[in-house]
Amino acid sequence: KQIVMSGIRPTGFLHLGNYFGALRNYVRMQDEYECYFMVADLHSLTTHPDTKELKGHVHRVLAENIASGLDPDKAALFCQSHVRETSELYLYLNMLAYKGELEKTPTFKDKVRLQPDNVNAGLLTYPVLMAADILLHRAALVPVGKDQEQHLEIARTYANRFNHRYSDVFPEPQAFNFGQALVKVPSLDGEGKMSKSENQNATLYLADSDDVIRKKVMKAKSDSGPTELNSKKPDYIENIFLLMSLVSGKDVIEKFEADYNNCTIRYGDMKKQLGEDMVKFIAPIREKAESIRTDEKYLKEVMEKGAEKARKSANATMEQVREHMGLVY
Ligand code: TYM
Repeated sequence: KQIVMSGIRPTGFLHLGNYFGALRNYVRMQDEYECYFMVADLHSLTTHPDTKELKGHVHRVLAENIASGLDPDKAALFCQSHVRETSELYLYLNMLAYKGELEKTPTFKDKVRLQPDNVNAGLLTYPVLMAADILLHRAALVPVGKDQEQHLEIARTYANRFNHRYSDVFPEPQAFNFGQALVKVPSLDGEGKMSKSENQNATLYLADSDDVIRKKVMKAKSDSGPTELNSKKPDYIENIFLLMSLVSGKDVIEKFEADYNNCTIRYGDMKKQLGEDMVKFIAPIREKAESIRTDEKYLKEVMEKGAEKARKSANATMEQVREHMGLVY
Protein backbone atom coordinates (compact mmCIF):
# COMPACT_ATOMS: atom_id res chain seq x y z
CA LYS A 1 0.00 0.00 0.00
CA GLN A 2 1.22 3.51 -0.76
CA ILE A 3 1.63 5.76 2.23
CA VAL A 4 -0.38 8.95 2.60
CA MET A 5 0.22 11.77 5.07
CA SER A 6 -1.37 15.18 5.64
CA GLY A 7 -2.23 17.68 8.36
CA ILE A 8 -4.34 20.66 9.35
CA ARG A 9 -3.38 23.41 11.81
CA PRO A 10 -5.72 23.93 14.78
CA THR A 11 -5.75 27.72 14.52
CA GLY A 12 -9.45 28.32 14.05
CA PHE A 13 -12.62 27.02 12.46
CA LEU A 14 -12.25 24.75 9.43
CA HIS A 15 -13.79 26.02 6.23
CA LEU A 16 -14.82 24.93 2.78
CA GLY A 17 -11.24 25.29 1.52
CA ASN A 18 -9.99 22.82 4.11
CA TYR A 19 -12.81 20.49 3.14
CA PHE A 20 -12.31 20.50 -0.63
CA GLY A 21 -8.53 20.91 -0.53
CA ALA A 22 -7.89 18.26 2.10
CA LEU A 23 -10.67 16.51 4.06
CA ARG A 24 -12.61 15.26 1.04
CA ASN A 25 -9.51 13.53 -0.28
CA TYR A 26 -8.61 12.08 3.10
CA VAL A 27 -11.94 10.30 3.07
CA ARG A 28 -11.56 9.18 -0.53
CA MET A 29 -8.10 7.74 0.20
CA GLN A 30 -8.66 5.99 3.51
CA ASP A 31 -9.80 2.66 2.03
CA GLU A 32 -7.00 2.23 -0.48
CA TYR A 33 -3.91 3.63 1.20
CA GLU A 34 -2.05 3.53 4.50
CA CYS A 35 -3.07 6.94 5.86
CA TYR A 36 -1.66 9.26 8.53
CA PHE A 37 -3.69 12.40 9.18
CA MET A 38 -2.79 14.78 11.96
CA VAL A 39 -3.69 17.95 13.78
CA ALA A 40 -0.60 20.15 13.36
CA ASP A 41 -0.56 21.67 16.84
CA LEU A 42 3.21 22.37 16.80
CA HIS A 43 2.88 24.36 13.59
CA SER A 44 0.16 26.48 15.15
CA LEU A 45 2.65 27.67 17.80
CA THR A 46 4.58 29.59 15.14
CA THR A 47 1.66 32.01 14.78
CA HIS A 48 -0.46 31.41 17.91
CA PRO A 49 1.90 31.30 20.93
CA ASP A 50 -1.09 31.79 23.26
CA THR A 51 -2.40 28.27 23.89
CA LYS A 52 -5.58 29.15 25.83
CA GLU A 53 -7.85 28.02 23.01
CA LEU A 54 -5.63 25.30 21.61
CA LYS A 55 -7.33 22.31 23.25
CA GLY A 56 -10.74 23.37 21.99
CA HIS A 57 -9.36 23.87 18.49
CA VAL A 58 -7.63 20.48 18.50
CA HIS A 59 -10.93 18.85 19.50
CA ARG A 60 -12.75 20.79 16.82
CA VAL A 61 -10.35 19.77 14.06
CA LEU A 62 -10.53 16.10 15.11
CA ALA A 63 -14.33 16.26 15.23
CA GLU A 64 -14.55 17.95 11.83
CA ASN A 65 -12.25 15.31 10.33
CA ILE A 66 -14.53 12.56 11.61
CA ALA A 67 -17.74 14.41 10.72
CA SER A 68 -16.45 14.72 7.15
CA GLY A 69 -16.34 10.93 6.94
CA LEU A 70 -12.87 10.06 8.17
CA ASP A 71 -12.85 6.70 9.96
CA PRO A 72 -10.24 6.56 12.76
CA ASP A 73 -10.24 2.76 12.47
CA LYS A 74 -8.98 3.03 8.90
CA ALA A 75 -6.69 6.08 8.97
CA ALA A 76 -4.41 7.03 11.86
CA LEU A 77 -5.85 10.31 13.18
CA PHE A 78 -3.46 11.89 15.65
CA CYS A 79 -1.94 14.98 17.15
CA GLN A 80 1.49 16.12 15.92
CA SER A 81 2.95 16.73 19.41
CA HIS A 82 2.13 13.16 20.43
CA VAL A 83 4.74 11.85 18.01
CA ARG A 84 8.02 13.08 19.51
CA GLU A 85 10.07 11.51 16.73
CA THR A 86 8.86 14.45 14.63
CA SER A 87 11.09 16.78 16.62
CA GLU A 88 14.12 14.56 16.15
CA LEU A 89 13.74 14.36 12.38
CA TYR A 90 13.04 18.11 12.28
CA LEU A 91 16.40 18.69 13.96
CA TYR A 92 18.28 16.54 11.45
CA LEU A 93 16.51 18.12 8.48
CA ASN A 94 17.41 21.57 9.78
CA MET A 95 21.04 20.77 8.94
CA LEU A 96 19.97 20.22 5.32
CA ALA A 97 17.91 23.42 5.18
CA TYR A 98 19.54 26.68 4.13
CA LYS A 99 18.56 29.98 5.63
CA GLY A 100 18.57 31.81 2.30
CA GLU A 101 16.15 29.31 0.78
CA LEU A 102 13.81 29.45 3.74
CA GLU A 103 13.76 33.25 3.68
CA LYS A 104 12.57 33.16 0.08
CA THR A 105 9.53 30.96 0.85
CA PRO A 106 6.40 32.99 -0.01
CA THR A 107 4.50 31.78 3.08
CA PHE A 108 7.36 33.02 5.28
CA LYS A 109 7.30 36.43 3.61
CA ASP A 110 3.52 36.60 4.16
CA LYS A 111 3.92 35.78 7.84
CA VAL A 112 6.63 38.40 8.31
CA ARG A 113 4.20 40.96 6.95
CA LEU A 114 1.36 39.70 9.19
CA GLN A 115 3.35 39.43 12.45
CA PRO A 116 6.42 41.70 12.23
CA ASP A 117 6.87 41.57 16.02
CA ASN A 118 7.15 37.79 16.17
CA VAL A 119 9.41 36.61 13.37
CA ASN A 120 10.55 33.55 15.32
CA ALA A 121 12.86 30.82 14.04
CA GLY A 122 9.96 28.36 14.05
CA LEU A 123 8.26 30.51 11.45
CA LEU A 124 11.37 30.45 9.27
CA THR A 125 11.74 26.68 9.59
CA TYR A 126 8.01 25.97 9.24
CA PRO A 127 8.60 24.05 5.97
CA VAL A 128 11.30 21.94 7.67
CA LEU A 129 8.85 20.81 10.33
CA MET A 130 6.29 20.05 7.64
CA ALA A 131 8.86 18.02 5.71
CA ALA A 132 9.60 16.11 8.93
CA ASP A 133 5.87 15.30 9.34
CA ILE A 134 5.75 13.83 5.86
CA LEU A 135 9.14 12.10 5.66
CA LEU A 136 8.67 10.58 9.12
CA HIS A 137 6.21 8.13 7.56
CA ARG A 138 8.04 7.91 4.24
CA ALA A 139 4.82 9.13 2.64
CA ALA A 140 4.56 9.23 -1.15
CA LEU A 141 1.25 11.10 -1.46
CA VAL A 142 0.16 14.24 0.37
CA PRO A 143 -3.43 15.39 -0.19
CA VAL A 144 -3.38 19.19 0.16
CA GLY A 145 -4.77 22.34 -1.42
CA LYS A 146 -2.93 24.53 -3.89
CA ASP A 147 -1.50 26.81 -1.17
CA GLN A 148 0.74 23.97 0.09
CA GLU A 149 2.40 23.25 -3.25
CA GLN A 150 5.63 25.09 -2.44
CA HIS A 151 5.93 23.39 0.93
CA LEU A 152 5.77 20.05 -0.85
CA GLU A 153 8.51 21.12 -3.21
CA ILE A 154 10.68 21.97 -0.22
CA ALA A 155 9.93 18.57 1.35
CA ARG A 156 11.09 16.90 -1.87
CA THR A 157 14.29 18.93 -1.80
CA TYR A 158 15.11 17.75 1.73
CA ALA A 159 14.23 14.13 0.89
CA ASN A 160 16.64 14.28 -2.04
CA ARG A 161 19.37 16.00 -0.05
CA PHE A 162 19.14 13.39 2.66
CA ASN A 163 19.15 10.53 0.15
CA HIS A 164 22.23 11.98 -1.59
CA ARG A 165 24.21 12.84 1.47
CA TYR A 166 23.50 9.63 3.38
CA SER A 167 21.55 6.96 1.56
CA ASP A 168 18.13 6.29 0.04
CA VAL A 169 15.63 6.39 2.85
CA PHE A 170 12.87 8.71 1.62
CA PRO A 171 10.55 8.62 -1.39
CA GLU A 172 9.81 12.01 -3.02
CA PRO A 173 6.45 13.11 -1.62
CA GLN A 174 3.92 14.48 -4.12
CA ALA A 175 0.99 16.82 -3.54
CA PHE A 176 -2.07 14.78 -4.49
CA ASN A 177 -5.54 15.39 -5.86
CA PHE A 178 -6.33 12.25 -7.88
CA GLY A 179 -4.47 13.50 -10.93
CA GLN A 180 -6.43 16.77 -10.99
CA ALA A 181 -5.05 20.25 -10.41
CA LEU A 182 -4.74 21.09 -6.71
CA VAL A 183 -7.81 22.85 -5.35
CA LYS A 184 -8.00 26.51 -4.39
CA VAL A 185 -11.38 27.45 -2.95
CA PRO A 186 -11.79 31.20 -3.50
CA SER A 187 -13.19 33.57 -0.89
CA LEU A 188 -16.58 35.21 -1.48
CA ASP A 189 -15.24 38.74 -1.80
CA GLY A 190 -13.39 38.04 -5.02
CA GLU A 191 -10.01 38.43 -3.31
CA GLY A 192 -7.77 35.49 -2.54
CA LYS A 193 -8.76 32.21 -0.95
CA MET A 194 -10.92 31.14 1.96
CA SER A 195 -8.84 31.10 5.11
CA LYS A 196 -9.10 30.32 8.82
CA SER A 197 -8.14 33.80 9.97
CA GLU A 198 -8.51 36.40 7.23
CA ASN A 199 -11.77 37.93 5.91
CA GLN A 200 -14.14 35.77 7.95
CA ASN A 201 -17.24 37.19 6.24
CA ALA A 202 -15.98 35.92 2.91
CA THR A 203 -15.17 32.41 4.20
CA LEU A 204 -17.74 29.64 4.71
CA TYR A 205 -16.93 27.66 7.86
CA LEU A 206 -18.08 24.10 8.48
CA ALA A 207 -19.51 25.42 11.79
CA ASP A 208 -21.56 28.27 10.24
CA SER A 209 -25.33 28.22 10.92
CA ASP A 210 -27.74 27.96 8.00
CA ASP A 211 -28.59 31.65 8.20
CA VAL A 212 -24.98 32.75 8.34
CA ILE A 213 -24.22 30.62 5.27
CA ARG A 214 -27.15 32.16 3.33
CA LYS A 215 -26.15 35.70 4.33
CA LYS A 216 -22.49 35.27 3.41
CA VAL A 217 -23.36 33.78 0.03
CA MET A 218 -25.85 36.58 -0.75
CA LYS A 219 -23.07 39.10 -0.08
CA ALA A 220 -20.63 37.44 -2.49
CA LYS A 221 -19.15 39.92 -4.90
CA SER A 222 -21.06 40.18 -8.20
CA ASP A 223 -22.23 42.93 -10.57
CA SER A 224 -25.26 43.79 -12.68
CA GLY A 225 -24.54 41.03 -15.20
CA PRO A 226 -22.90 40.71 -18.60
CA THR A 227 -23.90 43.04 -21.44
CA GLU A 228 -22.38 41.07 -24.32
CA LEU A 229 -23.33 37.56 -25.39
CA ASN A 230 -20.83 34.81 -24.51
CA SER A 231 -18.42 37.21 -22.81
CA LYS A 232 -15.56 36.23 -20.55
CA LYS A 233 -16.47 36.07 -16.87
CA PRO A 234 -14.76 38.41 -14.42
CA ASP A 235 -12.75 36.52 -11.77
CA TYR A 236 -15.27 37.09 -8.98
CA ILE A 237 -18.05 35.62 -11.15
CA GLU A 238 -15.82 32.64 -12.06
CA ASN A 239 -15.48 32.15 -8.32
CA ILE A 240 -19.24 31.90 -7.80
CA PHE A 241 -19.47 29.34 -10.57
CA LEU A 242 -16.55 27.44 -9.07
CA LEU A 243 -18.23 27.34 -5.65
CA MET A 244 -21.40 26.16 -7.33
CA SER A 245 -19.49 23.37 -9.06
CA LEU A 246 -18.49 22.06 -5.61
CA VAL A 247 -21.97 21.71 -4.14
CA SER A 248 -24.69 22.13 -6.78
CA GLY A 249 -26.13 19.73 -9.35
CA LYS A 250 -24.97 19.72 -12.96
CA ASP A 251 -28.34 20.82 -14.37
CA VAL A 252 -28.44 23.85 -12.09
CA ILE A 253 -24.96 24.92 -13.15
CA GLU A 254 -25.75 24.44 -16.83
CA LYS A 255 -28.82 26.61 -16.49
CA PHE A 256 -26.86 29.50 -14.97
CA GLU A 257 -24.08 29.06 -17.54
CA ALA A 258 -26.64 29.38 -20.33
CA ASP A 259 -28.24 32.40 -18.62
CA TYR A 260 -24.82 34.00 -18.34
CA ASN A 261 -24.07 33.49 -22.02
CA ASN A 262 -27.49 34.91 -22.98
CA CYS A 263 -27.07 37.89 -20.66
CA THR A 264 -30.25 36.89 -18.80
CA ILE A 265 -28.52 35.80 -15.60
CA ARG A 266 -29.78 37.16 -12.29
CA TYR A 267 -27.04 36.87 -9.71
CA GLY A 268 -29.57 37.25 -6.90
CA ASP A 269 -31.23 34.01 -8.01
CA MET A 270 -27.93 32.30 -8.54
CA LYS A 271 -26.70 33.19 -5.06
CA LYS A 272 -29.98 32.11 -3.53
CA GLN A 273 -29.59 28.71 -5.16
CA LEU A 274 -25.94 28.49 -4.13
CA GLY A 275 -26.85 29.45 -0.54
CA GLU A 276 -29.42 26.65 -0.33
CA ASP A 277 -27.04 24.09 -1.81
CA MET A 278 -24.30 25.18 0.61
CA VAL A 279 -26.69 24.81 3.55
CA LYS A 280 -27.60 21.30 2.39
CA PHE A 281 -23.92 20.46 2.13
CA ILE A 282 -22.59 22.02 5.33
CA ALA A 283 -25.45 21.43 7.82
CA PRO A 284 -24.99 17.64 8.20
CA ILE A 285 -21.23 18.03 8.75
CA ARG A 286 -21.79 20.83 11.29
CA GLU A 287 -24.36 18.83 13.23
CA LYS A 288 -22.24 15.70 13.34
CA ALA A 289 -19.11 17.62 14.36
CA GLU A 290 -21.01 19.39 17.12
CA SER A 291 -21.91 16.13 18.84
CA ILE A 292 -18.42 14.62 18.42
CA ARG A 293 -16.57 17.76 19.53
CA THR A 294 -17.86 17.59 23.09
CA ASP A 295 -17.21 13.87 23.56
CA GLU A 296 -13.75 14.31 25.05
CA LYS A 297 -13.46 10.70 26.14
CA TYR A 298 -14.02 9.42 22.62
CA LEU A 299 -11.64 11.97 21.09
CA LYS A 300 -8.94 11.03 23.56
CA GLU A 301 -9.29 7.37 22.58
CA VAL A 302 -9.09 8.28 18.90
CA MET A 303 -5.99 10.44 19.44
CA GLU A 304 -4.22 7.79 21.51
CA LYS A 305 -4.92 5.03 19.04
CA GLY A 306 -3.82 7.24 16.14
CA ALA A 307 -0.63 8.33 17.88
CA GLU A 308 0.28 4.73 18.65
CA LYS A 309 0.02 3.82 14.96
CA ALA A 310 1.93 6.94 13.93
CA ARG A 311 4.73 6.30 16.47
CA LYS A 312 5.17 2.79 15.18
CA SER A 313 5.66 4.05 11.65
CA ALA A 314 7.87 6.92 12.88
CA ASN A 315 10.12 4.60 14.88
CA ALA A 316 10.73 2.34 11.93
CA THR A 317 11.82 5.34 9.85
CA MET A 318 13.97 6.87 12.58
CA GLU A 319 15.90 3.66 13.10
CA GLN A 320 16.88 3.79 9.44
CA VAL A 321 17.60 7.51 9.59
CA ARG A 322 19.97 7.21 12.57
CA GLU A 323 21.70 4.24 11.07
CA HIS A 324 22.21 5.80 7.64
CA MET A 325 23.36 9.08 9.19
CA GLY A 326 25.99 7.18 11.11
CA LEU A 327 24.56 7.97 14.52
CA VAL A 328 24.70 4.40 15.79
CA TYR A 329 27.97 3.86 17.69
P1 TYM B 1 -3.73 24.50 6.82
O1 TYM B 1 -4.09 24.17 8.22
O2 TYM B 1 -3.56 25.93 6.45
O3 TYM B 1 -4.81 23.92 5.81
C1 TYM B 1 -5.20 22.56 5.89
C2 TYM B 1 -5.48 22.01 4.50
O4 TYM B 1 -6.49 22.79 3.85
C3 TYM B 1 -6.03 23.25 2.59
N1 TYM B 1 -6.61 24.57 2.30
C4 TYM B 1 -7.23 24.88 1.15
N2 TYM B 1 -7.46 24.15 0.04
C5 TYM B 1 -8.14 24.76 -0.96
N3 TYM B 1 -8.62 26.04 -0.89
C6 TYM B 1 -8.40 26.80 0.21
N4 TYM B 1 -8.89 28.03 0.27
C7 TYM B 1 -7.67 26.22 1.28
N5 TYM B 1 -7.28 26.68 2.51
C8 TYM B 1 -6.62 25.66 3.10
C9 TYM B 1 -4.52 23.30 2.72
O5 TYM B 1 -3.90 23.26 1.46
C10 TYM B 1 -4.25 22.10 3.58
O6 TYM B 1 -4.21 20.93 2.78
N6 TYM B 1 1.17 23.49 6.63
C11 TYM B 1 -0.16 22.88 6.60
C12 TYM B 1 -0.38 21.88 7.70
C13 TYM B 1 0.61 20.78 7.72
C14 TYM B 1 0.74 19.72 6.76
C15 TYM B 1 1.79 18.89 7.23
C16 TYM B 1 0.07 19.42 5.58
C17 TYM B 1 1.55 20.55 8.66
N7 TYM B 1 2.27 19.44 8.38
C18 TYM B 1 2.19 17.77 6.51
C19 TYM B 1 0.47 18.28 4.87
C20 TYM B 1 1.52 17.48 5.33
C21 TYM B 1 -1.18 23.98 6.78
O7 TYM B 1 -0.91 25.01 7.33
O8 TYM B 1 -2.45 23.67 6.36
